[in-house]
Amino acid sequence: MMRATRPAPTRSRATTPARSEGRVSSARFDIVLLGATGFAGGHAAARLHAVAPPELSWAVAGRRPDAVAALAEQYGCGSVHADVTDPQAMEQLARSARVVLSTAGPFAKYGNPVVDACVAAGTHYADLTGEVPFMRGLIDRHHGAAQLSGTAILPAAGFDSVPPEVATFVAMQEAGRRGATLESLRTVYRLRGGLNGGTLASVIDIMENGDRRLLADPYSLVPSSTATGPERRALGDPTRPVFDSTGQRYVAPFFMGAINRRVVRRMIELARASESPAVPQSLTSCLAQDFRYDEYQSVSKGRGWLAAWTATATLGLGAGVLSTGIGRRLAQRFGPAPGEGPSDEALRRGLTEMTSTAFLKGGESFVVRQSMQGDPGNAATVRILVEVGLALAAGEAQGGGVLTPLSALGQRLVDRLASTGEHTIEV
Ligand SMILES: NC(=O)c1ccc[n+]([C@@H]2O[C@H](COP(=O)([O-])OP(=O)(O)OC[C@H]3O[C@@H](n4cnc5c(N)ncnc54)[C@H](OP(=O)(O)O)[C@@H]3O)[C@@H](O)[C@H]2O)c1
Repeated sequence: MMRATRPAPTRSRATTPARSEGRVSSARFDIVLLGATGFAGGHAAARLHAVAPPELSWAVAGRRPDAVAALAEQYGCGSVHADVTDPQAMEQLARSARVVLSTAGPFAKYGNPVVDACVAAGTHYADLTGEVPFMRGLIDRHHGAAQLSGTAILPAAGFDSVPPEVATFVAMQEAGRRGATLESLRTVYRLRGGLNGGTLASVIDIMENGDRRLLADPYSLVPSSTATGPERRALGDPTRPVFDSTGQRYVAPFFMGAINRRVVRRMIELARASESPAVPQSLTSCLAQDFRYDEYQSVSKGRGWLAAWTATATLGLGAGVLSTGIGRRLAQRFGPAPGEGPSDEALRRGLTEMTSTAFLKGGESFVVRQSMQGDPGNAATVRILVEVGLALAAGEAQGGGVLTPLSALGQRLVDRLASTGEHTIEV
């Protein structure tokens, strides 16, 4: 079991929280939460209110002044009026904060002006995106400048894709301790959770506008990679069930695996290139050159060959349906709308269990287990985003760039997650 110590809150440089009138906040907040009027953002505001150290100054931000003011009133925090379509408002938003957390998605639609402003102002940024083309755009436009200025830009700082990064980071530490070579890591998820409207809107946006070639490339978040065509093909996404020897059952490819595998690949390649401030290059020396990380989901209690194939076919069918205009219209008609999500009761009952089996050269293996309480796409994701925000506000990022949360925060983030008491991490 990981040591569960909450790092002591660092005294911030921010001024006293002040309620701002109109668009401009004259106060400099430690954290400004954009998207607080949405479903995930509303839960993030509640979480910040519950766990932020008293000396931390924070504000909610959004485009509807009345809704933002009501939230600020409820939580006794600051408020910032910020519409992402207004460049001046984005500049002021970025200047009003040391850290911007954003849940305003789809990120391909709303995210770019926010990050552009944060990089220009030197304001750390983290969000809940799982949109690979959006992340790639940020890397192409901002990695160099953010590295130079020491600004941490951390997309995918939620359920996508921090737990897979944690699994890989902890597995590398353990393999290194054993002096072993880590050939592959396979995570199997057991999930209980629901879907919110913002997530559905983001999936639909990717289906409509995402670059398919980019989505298919396992190195899409490592633009500097020199991997050859055959090497890229060899690292392709799982497409069929496998027998999981750890759980003794057949498991189906995980529907978020394509995102998580690419973020984990970025963390590894940044570390191999010594561009990952909090994941040292030496940690990657345990990895086989052709190391692969894969994700599956558990779909039945028994050995479940048929159930695993059925789940795989359903996943393929779902992607096929959403790739058509009529399928997307049906999903919008019958799925949750933006602003909607699972009930409070469903959020509480939600659960994630992750079993990550590390396969070592020579045939041995060990397992990294993570268990997260609450709905994965809301409770767990919000908890993770808030811990990333608190870590950034406490000055724990070890360098800048368009990084992954682990490559910026490393062990500090692992300790913070464990210290919540709702996210256990065991080897
Ligand atoms: N990684 C994960 O595990 C995870 C989990 C959950 C959600 N997500 C992602 O998080 C995002 C939000 O999800 P959600 O369910 O919370 O969506 P949502 O309820 O629709 O919230 C979207 C937020 O964006 C704001 N927004 C929209 N246009 C804006 C503009 N022009 N200026 C400023 N703010 C604007 C909305 O403001 P209004 O209230 O004024 O409309 C709202 O606050 C989605 O991209 C989703 O995929 C990721």
